[in-house]
Amino acid sequence: MKIPPPPVHRGVRIAGTGSYVPEGLLTNDDLARMVDTSDEWIQQRTGIRRRHICDPTTEGTLVMSREALRRALDQAGLEASSLDMIIVATVTMEMTCPSTAARIAGELGATPAAAFDITAACCGFLYALNLADTLVRSGRADRVGIVGCDWMSSIIDYDDRSCSILFGDAAGAAVLEATDDPSKGCIHQTMHADGRGWPALYIPRRDRDLADGDTVEGIRLGCLRMNGREVYKFAVNQFQNSISGALEAAELTPDEVGSYICHQSNLRIIESAVEKLGLPREKVYVNIDEYGNSSAGSVGLCLDQMRTKGLIDESKPSLLVAFGGGMTWSSCVWNW
Ligand code: UT7
Repeated sequence: MKIPPPPVHRGVRIAGTGSYVPEGLLTNDDLARMVDTSDEWIQQRTGIRRRHICDPTTEGTLVMSREALRRALDQAGLEASSLDMIIVATVTMEMTCPSTAARIAGELGATPAAAFDITAACCGFLYALNLADTLVRSGRADRVGIVGCDWMSSIIDYDDRSCSILFGDAAGAAVLEATDDPSKGCIHQTMHADGRGWPALYIPRRDRDLADGDTVEGIRLGCLRMNGREVYKFAVNQFQNSISGALEAAELTPDEVGSYICHQSNLRIIESAVEKLGLPREKVYVNIDEYGNSSAGSVGLCLDQMRTKGLIDESKPSLLVAFGGGMTWSSCVWNW
Protein backbone atom coordinates (compact mmCIF):
# COMPACT_ATOMS: atom_id res chain seq x y z
CA MET A 1 0.00 0.00 0.00
CA LYS A 2 1.29 3.42 -0.87
CA ILE A 3 1.04 5.85 2.06
CA PRO A 4 -0.30 9.28 0.95
CA PRO A 5 2.24 12.09 1.23
CA PRO A 6 1.81 14.65 4.04
CA PRO A 7 -0.41 17.66 3.26
CA VAL A 8 1.31 20.21 1.06
CA HIS A 9 1.66 23.66 2.61
CA ARG A 10 1.59 26.15 -0.17
CA GLY A 11 -0.26 29.19 -1.37
CA VAL A 12 -1.87 30.28 -4.60
CA ARG A 13 -1.26 33.22 -6.90
CA ILE A 14 -3.15 34.66 -9.83
CA ALA A 15 -0.67 34.48 -12.69
CA GLY A 16 -2.91 36.21 -15.23
CA THR A 17 -6.41 37.44 -15.93
CA GLY A 18 -8.35 38.01 -19.14
CA SER A 19 -11.82 38.90 -20.32
CA TYR A 20 -13.94 39.04 -23.42
CA VAL A 21 -16.80 41.44 -24.06
CA PRO A 22 -18.64 41.44 -27.39
CA GLU A 23 -18.62 44.68 -29.36
CA GLY A 24 -22.37 44.57 -30.05
CA LEU A 25 -24.32 47.08 -27.94
CA LEU A 26 -27.86 47.13 -26.61
CA THR A 27 -28.76 50.51 -25.13
CA ASN A 28 -31.67 51.45 -22.88
CA ASP A 29 -33.18 53.33 -25.81
CA ASP A 30 -32.95 50.15 -27.93
CA LEU A 31 -34.91 48.28 -25.23
CA ALA A 32 -37.47 51.10 -25.01
CA ARG A 33 -38.22 50.46 -28.67
CA MET A 34 -38.98 46.78 -27.86
CA VAL A 35 -40.98 47.00 -24.60
CA ASP A 36 -42.69 49.58 -22.39
CA THR A 37 -39.66 50.94 -20.54
CA SER A 38 -37.39 54.00 -20.62
CA ASP A 39 -33.77 54.98 -20.26
CA GLU A 40 -34.70 57.01 -17.17
CA TRP A 41 -36.48 54.08 -15.43
CA ILE A 42 -33.65 51.65 -16.14
CA GLN A 43 -30.90 54.02 -15.01
CA GLN A 44 -32.76 54.99 -11.85
CA ARG A 45 -33.68 51.42 -10.82
CA THR A 46 -30.50 49.62 -11.87
CA GLY A 47 -27.68 52.03 -12.81
CA ILE A 48 -27.41 50.38 -16.23
CA ARG A 49 -26.91 52.52 -19.37
CA ARG A 50 -26.14 49.80 -21.86
CA ARG A 51 -24.94 46.22 -22.16
CA HIS A 52 -22.81 44.31 -24.67
CA ILE A 53 -24.34 41.38 -26.51
CA CYS A 54 -22.97 38.68 -28.79
CA ASP A 55 -23.37 38.48 -32.53
CA PRO A 56 -25.02 35.02 -32.51
CA THR A 57 -23.50 34.16 -35.89
CA THR A 58 -19.91 34.44 -34.67
CA GLU A 59 -19.93 34.67 -30.87
CA GLY A 60 -21.33 32.80 -27.89
CA THR A 61 -20.21 31.06 -24.71
CA LEU A 62 -17.55 28.99 -26.43
CA VAL A 63 -15.84 31.94 -28.15
CA MET A 64 -16.09 34.28 -25.16
CA SER A 65 -14.75 31.65 -22.72
CA ARG A 66 -11.92 30.59 -25.00
CA GLU A 67 -10.79 34.14 -25.73
CA ALA A 68 -10.96 35.23 -22.08
CA LEU A 69 -8.80 32.26 -21.03
CA ARG A 70 -6.41 32.78 -23.96
CA ARG A 71 -5.91 36.38 -22.81
CA ALA A 72 -5.33 35.28 -19.20
CA LEU A 73 -2.69 32.79 -20.39
CA ASP A 74 -1.06 35.43 -22.61
CA GLN A 75 -0.92 37.87 -19.73
CA ALA A 76 0.67 35.19 -17.53
CA GLY A 77 3.10 34.28 -20.31
CA LEU A 78 2.01 30.65 -20.08
CA GLU A 79 1.10 27.96 -22.59
CA ALA A 80 -2.30 26.27 -22.32
CA SER A 81 -0.44 22.95 -22.23
CA SER A 82 0.87 23.86 -18.77
CA LEU A 83 -2.64 23.79 -17.25
CA ASP A 84 -3.72 20.80 -15.13
CA MET A 85 -7.38 21.74 -15.18
CA ILE A 86 -9.91 24.10 -16.75
CA ILE A 87 -13.16 25.01 -14.99
CA VAL A 88 -15.83 27.00 -16.83
CA ALA A 89 -18.73 28.41 -14.81
CA THR A 90 -21.79 29.13 -16.93
CA VAL A 91 -25.55 28.67 -17.16
CA THR A 92 -25.43 29.12 -20.93
CA MET A 93 -23.23 26.25 -22.10
CA GLU A 94 -23.84 25.69 -25.80
CA MET A 95 -23.93 21.93 -25.24
CA THR A 96 -24.06 20.00 -21.99
CA CYS A 97 -21.87 17.33 -23.59
CA PRO A 98 -19.10 18.05 -24.26
CA SER A 99 -18.55 20.67 -21.59
CA THR A 100 -17.48 24.17 -22.63
CA ALA A 101 -14.29 23.58 -20.65
CA ALA A 102 -13.41 20.43 -22.63
CA ARG A 103 -13.97 22.24 -25.92
CA ILE A 104 -11.83 25.24 -25.03
CA ALA A 105 -9.16 22.92 -23.62
CA GLY A 106 -9.10 21.19 -27.00
CA GLU A 107 -9.02 24.43 -28.97
CA LEU A 108 -6.34 26.07 -26.83
CA GLY A 109 -4.13 22.97 -26.68
CA ALA A 110 -4.55 22.15 -22.99
CA THR A 111 -5.02 18.40 -23.51
CA PRO A 112 -5.07 16.28 -21.31
CA ALA A 113 -5.96 18.80 -18.59
CA ALA A 114 -9.11 17.91 -16.63
CA ALA A 115 -11.98 20.03 -17.92
CA PHE A 116 -15.53 20.51 -16.68
CA ASP A 117 -18.31 23.08 -16.37
CA ILE A 118 -20.01 24.16 -13.16
CA THR A 119 -23.32 25.93 -12.72
CA ALA A 120 -23.80 28.38 -9.88
CA ALA A 121 -25.39 31.22 -11.89
CA CYS A 122 -23.92 34.62 -10.95
CA CYS A 123 -21.74 32.96 -8.25
CA GLY A 124 -20.09 30.76 -10.89
CA PHE A 125 -16.76 32.59 -11.15
CA LEU A 126 -16.38 32.75 -7.37
CA TYR A 127 -17.27 29.07 -6.94
CA ALA A 128 -14.63 28.26 -9.59
CA LEU A 129 -12.05 30.52 -7.92
CA ASN A 130 -12.67 28.97 -4.49
CA LEU A 131 -12.56 25.42 -5.89
CA ALA A 132 -9.40 26.06 -7.90
CA ASP A 133 -7.68 27.66 -4.91
CA THR A 134 -8.53 24.63 -2.77
CA LEU A 135 -7.24 22.16 -5.38
CA VAL A 136 -3.98 24.03 -5.92
CA ARG A 137 -3.47 24.60 -2.18
CA SER A 138 -3.97 20.88 -1.48
CA GLY A 139 -1.41 19.89 -4.09
CA ARG A 140 -3.94 18.09 -6.31
CA ALA A 141 -3.28 20.57 -9.14
CA ASP A 142 -0.45 23.00 -9.83
CA ARG A 143 -2.07 25.33 -12.34
CA VAL A 144 -5.77 25.82 -13.07
CA GLY A 145 -7.55 28.01 -15.63
CA ILE A 146 -10.95 29.29 -14.53
CA VAL A 147 -13.59 31.10 -16.58
CA GLY A 148 -16.92 32.68 -15.69
CA CYS A 149 -19.00 33.28 -18.79
CA ASP A 150 -22.62 33.83 -19.71
CA TRP A 151 -24.28 34.46 -23.03
CA MET A 152 -27.35 35.95 -21.40
CA SER A 153 -28.76 37.38 -24.63
CA SER A 154 -29.31 33.76 -25.78
CA ILE A 155 -31.72 33.08 -22.87
CA ILE A 156 -33.49 36.42 -22.57
CA ASP A 157 -37.07 36.89 -23.70
CA TYR A 158 -36.83 40.43 -25.07
CA ASP A 159 -40.60 40.82 -24.64
CA ASP A 160 -40.14 40.45 -20.86
CA ARG A 161 -39.14 43.87 -19.53
CA SER A 162 -38.68 42.56 -15.99
CA CYS A 163 -35.59 40.60 -17.13
CA SER A 164 -34.40 41.98 -20.43
CA ILE A 165 -33.17 45.30 -19.09
CA LEU A 166 -30.69 43.75 -16.66
CA PHE A 167 -28.49 41.35 -18.54
CA GLY A 168 -25.49 41.47 -20.89
CA ASP A 169 -22.89 39.03 -22.22
CA ALA A 170 -19.28 38.69 -21.02
CA ALA A 171 -16.53 36.34 -19.88
CA GLY A 172 -13.80 36.75 -17.28
CA ALA A 173 -10.92 34.34 -16.71
CA ALA A 174 -7.93 33.78 -14.44
CA VAL A 175 -4.99 31.41 -14.25
CA LEU A 176 -4.17 30.25 -10.72
CA GLU A 177 -0.90 28.58 -9.81
CA ALA A 178 0.96 27.31 -6.78
CA THR A 179 3.37 29.48 -4.84
CA ASP A 180 5.57 28.60 -1.85
CA ASP A 181 4.03 31.17 0.50
CA PRO A 182 0.92 29.59 2.14
CA SER A 183 -0.39 33.03 3.18
CA LYS A 184 -1.05 33.87 -0.50
CA GLY A 185 -4.37 33.23 -2.21
CA CYS A 186 -7.75 32.61 -0.70
CA ILE A 187 -7.54 33.19 3.06
CA HIS A 188 -11.27 32.87 3.63
CA GLN A 189 -14.03 31.51 1.41
CA THR A 190 -17.73 30.73 1.55
CA MET A 191 -19.96 28.89 -0.93
CA HIS A 192 -23.63 28.48 -0.09
CA ALA A 193 -26.94 27.62 -1.69
CA ASP A 194 -30.57 27.49 -0.64
CA GLY A 195 -32.37 25.45 -3.28
CA ARG A 196 -35.75 26.21 -1.73
CA GLY A 197 -35.65 29.63 -3.37
CA TRP A 198 -35.09 28.42 -6.95
CA PRO A 199 -38.39 29.70 -8.46
CA ALA A 200 -37.18 33.29 -8.03
CA LEU A 201 -34.65 32.83 -10.85
CA TYR A 202 -34.74 29.90 -13.23
CA ILE A 203 -34.65 28.74 -16.84
CA PRO A 204 -37.53 26.32 -17.53
CA ARG A 205 -36.81 23.92 -20.39
CA ARG A 206 -40.08 21.92 -20.30
CA ASP A 207 -43.62 22.53 -19.06
CA ARG A 208 -42.96 20.39 -16.03
CA ASP A 209 -40.09 22.65 -14.92
CA LEU A 210 -42.48 25.54 -14.30
CA ALA A 211 -42.67 26.72 -10.70
CA ASP A 212 -46.02 26.85 -8.91
CA GLY A 213 -47.95 29.84 -10.17
CA ASP A 214 -46.10 30.02 -13.50
CA THR A 215 -48.14 28.88 -16.50
CA VAL A 216 -47.21 27.92 -20.04
CA GLU A 217 -49.09 30.90 -21.41
CA GLY A 218 -46.88 33.93 -21.71
CA ILE A 219 -43.69 32.09 -20.74
CA ARG A 220 -41.02 31.30 -23.29
CA LEU A 221 -39.41 27.96 -22.47
CA GLY A 222 -35.62 28.14 -22.53
CA CYS A 223 -35.69 31.76 -21.33
CA LEU A 224 -34.83 33.17 -17.94
CA ARG A 225 -37.69 33.76 -15.47
CA MET A 226 -37.07 36.17 -12.62
CA ASN A 227 -39.08 37.48 -9.72
CA GLY A 228 -37.12 40.71 -9.44
CA ARG A 229 -38.53 41.82 -6.11
CA GLU A 230 -37.83 38.46 -4.45
CA VAL A 231 -34.31 38.35 -5.81
CA TYR A 232 -33.75 41.94 -4.74
CA LYS A 233 -34.75 41.22 -1.13
CA PHE A 234 -32.59 38.10 -1.01
CA ALA A 235 -29.68 39.88 -2.67
CA VAL A 236 -29.62 42.95 -0.44
CA ASN A 237 -29.46 40.73 2.67
CA GLN A 238 -27.05 38.08 1.42
CA PHE A 239 -24.75 40.60 -0.17
CA GLN A 240 -24.35 42.50 3.08
CA ASN A 241 -24.16 39.35 5.22
CA SER A 242 -21.52 37.86 2.94
CA ILE A 243 -19.35 40.98 3.11
CA SER A 244 -19.69 41.47 6.87
CA GLY A 245 -19.17 37.72 7.46
CA ALA A 246 -16.01 37.70 5.36
CA LEU A 247 -14.62 40.80 7.10
CA GLU A 248 -15.27 39.24 10.49
CA ALA A 249 -13.82 35.83 9.57
CA ALA A 250 -10.66 37.37 8.10
CA GLU A 251 -10.46 39.87 10.99
CA LEU A 252 -10.42 42.88 8.70
CA THR A 253 -12.02 46.31 8.99
CA PRO A 254 -13.64 47.69 5.81
CA ASP A 255 -10.61 49.99 5.30
CA GLU A 256 -8.12 47.12 5.56
CA VAL A 257 -9.52 45.66 2.34
CA GLY A 258 -7.73 46.99 -0.75
CA SER A 259 -10.57 46.44 -3.22
CA TYR A 260 -14.12 45.13 -3.30
CA ILE A 261 -14.81 43.04 -6.38
CA CYS A 262 -18.57 42.56 -6.43
CA HIS A 263 -21.07 40.86 -8.67
CA GLN A 264 -22.75 43.58 -10.72
CA SER A 265 -26.48 42.94 -10.52
CA ASN A 266 -28.00 46.27 -9.62
CA LEU A 267 -26.24 49.49 -8.58
CA ARG A 268 -28.77 49.95 -5.76
CA ILE A 269 -27.74 46.62 -4.20
CA ILE A 270 -24.07 47.64 -4.23
CA GLU A 271 -24.82 51.15 -2.92
CA SER A 272 -26.92 49.81 -0.05
CA ALA A 273 -24.02 47.59 1.09
CA VAL A 274 -21.62 50.54 0.85
CA GLU A 275 -23.93 52.64 2.99
CA LYS A 276 -24.97 50.00 5.56
CA LEU A 277 -21.50 48.57 6.12
CA GLY A 278 -19.54 51.84 5.74
CA LEU A 279 -17.40 50.49 2.89
CA PRO A 280 -14.91 52.94 1.36
CA ARG A 281 -16.82 53.83 -1.84
CA GLU A 282 -13.68 54.46 -3.91
CA LYS A 283 -12.55 50.85 -3.36
CA VAL A 284 -15.81 49.35 -4.63
CA TYR A 285 -15.54 48.74 -8.35
CA VAL A 286 -18.63 49.39 -10.47
CA ASN A 287 -18.99 48.75 -14.21
CA ILE A 288 -22.68 47.85 -14.38
CA ASP A 289 -23.48 51.06 -16.28
CA GLU A 290 -21.58 49.71 -19.31
CA TYR A 291 -22.11 45.92 -19.11
CA GLY A 292 -25.28 45.30 -17.11
CA ASN A 293 -25.39 42.01 -15.23
CA SER A 294 -23.32 39.42 -17.09
CA SER A 295 -24.11 36.63 -14.61
CA ALA A 296 -21.09 34.29 -14.25
CA GLY A 297 -19.05 36.72 -16.37
CA SER A 298 -19.42 39.63 -13.99
CA VAL A 299 -16.89 39.05 -11.17
CA GLY A 300 -14.15 37.78 -13.52
CA LEU A 301 -14.67 40.76 -15.81
CA CYS A 302 -14.36 43.17 -12.86
CA LEU A 303 -11.23 41.37 -11.64
CA ASP A 304 -9.57 41.59 -15.04
CA GLN A 305 -10.51 45.22 -15.62
CA MET A 306 -9.31 46.24 -12.17
CA ARG A 307 -5.98 44.45 -12.57
CA THR A 308 -5.47 45.83 -16.05
CA LYS A 309 -6.25 49.38 -14.90
CA GLY A 310 -3.95 49.01 -11.85
CA LEU A 311 -6.90 49.51 -9.49
CA ILE A 312 -6.04 46.66 -7.14
CA ASP A 313 -3.95 47.59 -4.12
CA GLU A 314 -2.08 44.30 -3.79
CA SER A 315 -0.60 45.30 -0.43
CA LYS A 316 -4.05 44.58 1.04
CA PRO A 317 -6.44 41.67 0.54
CA SER A 318 -9.33 41.94 -1.91
CA LEU A 319 -12.85 40.89 -1.03
CA LEU A 320 -14.89 39.20 -3.77
CA VAL A 321 -18.61 38.61 -3.35
CA ALA A 322 -21.54 37.35 -5.42
CA PHE A 323 -25.09 35.97 -5.24
CA GLY A 324 -27.35 34.45 -7.84
CA GLY A 325 -29.78 31.81 -9.01
CA GLY A 326 -30.02 28.61 -7.03
CA MET A 327 -30.22 30.62 -4.86
CA THR A 328 -26.47 30.80 -4.30
CA TRP A 329 -24.08 33.15 -2.53
CA SER A 330 -20.33 33.13 -2.17
CA SER A 331 -17.36 35.16 -0.99
CA CYS A 332 -13.59 35.06 -1.03
CA VAL A 333 -10.90 37.10 0.69
CA TRP A 334 -7.84 37.00 -1.55
CA ASN A 335 -4.37 37.82 -0.26
CA TRP A 336 -2.15 38.93 -3.18
O1 UT7 B 1 -27.72 38.42 -10.46
C1 UT7 B 1 -28.94 38.18 -9.85
C2 UT7 B 1 -29.99 38.51 -10.84
N1 UT7 B 1 -31.02 39.42 -10.55
C3 UT7 B 1 -31.03 40.50 -9.74
O2 UT7 B 1 -30.16 40.83 -9.01
C4 UT7 B 1 -32.30 41.32 -9.80
C5 UT7 B 1 -32.72 41.94 -8.51
N2 UT7 B 1 -33.86 42.79 -8.70
C6 UT7 B 1 -33.79 44.00 -9.28
O3 UT7 B 1 -32.73 44.45 -9.64
C7 UT7 B 1 -35.05 44.82 -9.34
O4 UT7 B 1 -36.09 44.14 -8.68
C8 UT7 B 1 -35.49 45.13 -10.81
C9 UT7 B 1 -34.52 46.11 -11.45
C10 UT7 B 1 -35.60 43.86 -11.63
C11 UT7 B 1 -36.86 45.83 -10.76
O5 UT7 B 1 -36.79 47.02 -9.98
P1 UT7 B 1 -37.83 47.26 -8.81
O6 UT7 B 1 -37.51 48.58 -8.25
O7 UT7 B 1 -37.76 46.10 -7.86
O8 UT7 B 1 -39.19 47.31 -9.57
P2 UT7 B 1 -40.51 46.48 -9.29
O9 UT7 B 1 -40.39 45.10 -9.84
O10 UT7 B 1 -40.88 46.64 -7.83
O11 UT7 B 1 -41.55 47.27 -10.17
C12 UT7 B 1 -41.90 48.64 -9.89
C13 UT7 B 1 -42.79 49.13 -11.03
C14 UT7 B 1 -43.93 48.17 -11.34
O12 UT7 B 1 -45.04 48.95 -11.71
P3 UT7 B 1 -46.21 49.24 -10.65
O13 UT7 B 1 -46.72 47.88 -10.25
O14 UT7 B 1 -45.57 49.98 -9.53
O15 UT7 B 1 -47.17 50.06 -11.45
C15 UT7 B 1 -43.44 47.41 -12.55
O16 UT7 B 1 -44.48 46.94 -13.37
O17 UT7 B 1 -42.03 49.25 -12.23
C16 UT7 B 1 -42.65 48.48 -13.28
N3 UT7 B 1 -41.57 47.93 -14.10
C17 UT7 B 1 -41.02 48.60 -15.12
N4 UT7 B 1 -41.26 49.83 -15.63
C18 UT7 B 1 -40.51 50.23 -16.65
C19 UT7 B 1 -40.96 46.72 -13.99
N5 UT7 B 1 -40.01 46.59 -14.94
C20 UT7 B 1 -40.03 47.76 -15.64
C21 UT7 B 1 -39.27 48.22 -16.73
N6 UT7 B 1 -39.53 49.46 -17.20
N7 UT7 B 1 -38.30 47.49 -17.31
